[in-house]
Amino acid sequence: MYKFLMTVSLLLILSCNTNNKEILVQSPDSSIKLRFEIVDGEPTYSINKKKNIVIDNSRLGIILRDKIDLSKDFRVGSINRSYSNSEWSPLFGEQTTIKDEYNELTISLYQGTLNMNLSFRVFDDGVAFRYEIPNQDDIKSYDIIDEKTQFNLSSDDMAWWVPAFSYRRYEFLHAYSSIDSISKKYYSREVEDISYDTLGIDAAHTPFTIKKSTGDFVSIHEANLVDYSSMTLASKGNGKMEVELYPWSDGTKVKLDSQILSPWRTIQISNNSSDLLMSNMTLNLNEDPDEEKDFSWVKPGKYMGVWWEMIGTNESTWWPSANHGANNKKVVKYLDFASKHGFNGLLVEGWNIGWHPEWCCSGNGNPFSFTKTQPDFDLPFLSDYALNKNIRLVGHHETGGQIDNYESQLDEAFSLYKKNGIQFIKTGYVNDVSKNIKRFNENGDVVYEWHHGQYMINHFQKVIEKAAEYELSIIKHEPIKDTGLRRKHPNFISREGAKGQEFNGFSSNGVNHITILPFTRMLSGPMDYTPGIFQLNNFRYLSPGNNTLDRNAIVPSTISKELALYVLLYSPMQMAADLPKHYKKHPKAFEYIKAVPVDWAKKKILSSEIGSHLVIARKDKNSDRWYVGGITNEEERIIKNDFKFLTKGEKYQLKIFSDSKDTHWKKNPMEYKTSNIEIDSESTIDIYMAPGGGFAMEIIPQHNNQ
Ligand code: NOJ
Repeated sequence: MYKFLMTVSLLLILSCNTNNKEILVQSPDSSIKLRFEIVDGEPTYSINKKKNIVIDNSRLGIILRDKIDLSKDFRVGSINRSYSNSEWSPLFGEQTTIKDEYNELTISLYQGTLNMNLSFRVFDDGVAFRYEIPNQDDIKSYDIIDEKTQFNLSSDDMAWWVPAFSYRRYEFLHAYSSIDSISKKYYSREVEDISYDTLGIDAAHTPFTIKKSTGDFVSIHEANLVDYSSMTLASKGNGKMEVELYPWSDGTKVKLDSQILSPWRTIQISNNSSDLLMSNMTLNLNEDPDEEKDFSWVKPGKYMGVWWEMIGTNESTWWPSANHGANNKKVVKYLDFASKHGFNGLLVEGWNIGWHPEWCCSGNGNPFSFTKTQPDFDLPFLSDYALNKNIRLVGHHETGGQIDNYESQLDEAFSLYKKNGIQFIKTGYVNDVSKNIKRFNENGDVVYEWHHGQYMINHFQKVIEKAAEYELSIIKHEPIKDTGLRRKHPNFISREGAKGQEFNGFSSNGVNHITILPFTRMLSGPMDYTPGIFQLNNFRYLSPGNNTLDRNAIVPSTISKELALYVLLYSPMQMAADLPKHYKKHPKAFEYIKAVPVDWAKKKILSSEIGSHLVIARKDKNSDRWYVGGITNEEERIIKNDFKFLTKGEKYQLKIFSDSKDTHWKKNPMEYKTSNIEIDSESTIDIYMAPGGGFAMEIIPQHNNQ
């Protein structure tokens, strides 16, 4: 499954007095240089790409309980250098093989007898580092009180960011501002009023994407976040950013019984926005699955759902009512449609006991049962019906952020689903209040935790590992961000973790959000964005049971753009989110959703500018077909497409779905045209994208018409 094709590793151990001297390590292609230096006892680092400063001298360090300050008074003990070059193959993904080449520098630091090690890996596409504090006699507690990592950028650098420490987790539109402006005040003035949400500090989530004043693009994130707290970035003025970890309710940042191995702090660096999308650093900094674990049961796929009728069209309810969505009759109809069109799964939400009109979003709803069904939903009957039609139900666990309630039912709930042939579960943690995850502490008192602190990170991990025991894959909503753990845990198949399509159902993401997402949230990994809405206006009823249309409801897109999203927004489990009746109106476009793969051999970024447009080509893993998707913001745009990525001399059939001159995301979103022509690698084609629109292509080699 995972194989190392080539590994070269050289180890050089130097023990010398390098205090107050620079220690340098560069990327294998020599374009990126990392410099480590002890300045007045403080460990510092800086990064250059060619002549440009990416990160200026920045401090490093960790403060432990008992006033152990591991950010100063250090001397260098020893230095290890190594080089590694290997390739590995994910079970499924965006590329068949991934190259992992870097130079590594590990520095042992000493403060008296206390020891802390720093490891740096310098890749051609960026730098990563992490802290290790080994077990030692003079440290009694490994609890982290603070992490002192700095990223010293420049006041002229601009960033796309969403606020951390705020009520709706990662689900915000992006602000674009200078680094020094990052604050709730700025966000409230320019994007959305969150000023009343006073519990949290001013900070931004990662991936945090920066356009440097030098023209370089940088994304700061973390890799391998396990048993730690999630990292956010606070602006300290003059271009300085500092790590802020989500604290526990008692203020401790990370609680550990023994040695510390922090997640990797990652800095992806490229000359342009397109190369940023090609980086595999986050995955490379994670591990393969444990050898004894077989994940061959995890299979990518596509699903539909009894979902948009609650979220989007507003015609059904999750809770018992005359319009309850998850009823046997309706589910059968959906199963008939979805199986006829070759889908692998059907999500059914609102099948279990606990739903009621006020279920959302305070964390105080009735606890959900994950084993008891509503009376009009017959789980064994429906799973059998599905299996006979070669499709499976996709399970749903909305926890409301009630962790104890969920954890106490995990085994029973997972075994019920397994018994019913279910292979995927969408989990949810809607609790739209800052620091509102209820926990009973060691004394039995109720305390409230943040959604991205160590308590929740450990919970999310527990669910993934437990699900694997039952051969279940998880699509997580309101999740922890992806830090590459999907490499070791392939059943962590997809997640939300940003404003997805659903916000276009009950409010709006605006027309430009989707042109920023690939360069921010998507840098971390696959997203369950749930594309494929075809009825883009006049779809929403005022309330379930009241068939008056809400004329203001609009999904700010076009049908061609919705198709393009299947290529642009990678997810190994991809949804066709609209209702069967809406797909029936556009059978040709629906064929594209059916045809587009979910497992890829290669990707090429053909054109991009953050917030403006993006064109990506991907090659199917199981055939020689290519698929291209392009999107634009509110501006119309003509894209000159060339096909240099195709095999020379080969003829291809090109099927195009594109906007027409009359298409417009607001005025006329559902008009699209198709064409079918022959091309080869020398061909060029101009494609028009309407305001808020896009295009999608399927490219089929003629040699075997496979
Ligand atoms: C929020 C999720 O993102 C959405 O997809 C789901 O339908 C609701 N929670 C209910 O669980």
